[in-house]
Amino acid sequence: MRNVIIAGNWKMNKTFSEVEDFLDDFVDELEGTDHAGVEVVICPPALYLELASDYAQDSTFFTGAQDVSAHESGAYTGEISASMYSSMGITHCIIGHSERRKYHHEKDSLIHEKLQKLLAEEIVPIVCVGETLEEREAGITRNVILDQLKGVFEGISFNDPIVIAYEPVWAIGTGKTASPEQAQEIHAIIRQWVKAHVSPAAAENVPILYGGSMKPENIAELISQPDIDGGLIGGASLDAKKFIAMVKTAVEM
Ligand code: PGA
Repeated sequence: MRNVIIAGNWKMNKTFSEVEDFLDDFVDELEGTDHAGVEVVICPPALYLELASDYAQDSTFFTGAQDVSAHESGAYTGEISASMYSSMGITHCIIGHSERRKYHHEKDSLIHEKLQKLLAEEIVPIVCVGETLEEREAGITRNVILDQLKGVFEGISFNDPIVIAYEPVWAIGTGKTASPEQAQEIHAIIRQWVKAHVSPAAAENVPILYGGSMKPENIAELISQPDIDGGLIGGASLDAKKFIAMVKTAVEM
């Protein structure tokens, strides 16, 4: 059985003291929650990773970054490398988020390079794929997802842990959630691709998270789908009460 993963993507939110407040509340609540079988990951802005990983040392959550450089080191102003993260004890990293694809023009080939850098440092990549509203309305969702999978995962063995997140772009931050059936359909396509192009064992083991306006009110119906193994949660992960409520729902299921 695959573990369930509840991951919070804070994006560019919170001041230092807000991060401390969140973590104080969250760590207290998490301590009283037996969440065996449910992995919890918090992805704050890079500046707060050290603080979050300090809290994580005495707690049971993992700390993840939101992006990584495709380069190893050197003259890349503003970038952070995978080896820097691993030297700080950071265990997870989101790559290929649609906001990076949109605002920073990231292509699958670049995301593939970032993936390789993370795997070399034994950091668990959380690789995002997803279609835009125009693509869904044009009826090409399946092809868009398959192209992204091919572009990012070509030649990747899946011998190390990899997490995939299906995040329909039209559902991110919009309050519009994919229905459980819509999400399940794409999750099954993703798992089938891994089965056909990597191996049946890799397909069985890879956690596939849903992301896009997931919240306490809709998490249960989404993660009860057979191929939905948890969530990558933006807005609702900023509130410690909502985030812990989602962890608890996952535990109960
Ligand atoms: P949202 O964001 O939950 O605010 O829709 C999800 C994400 O972008 O990872």
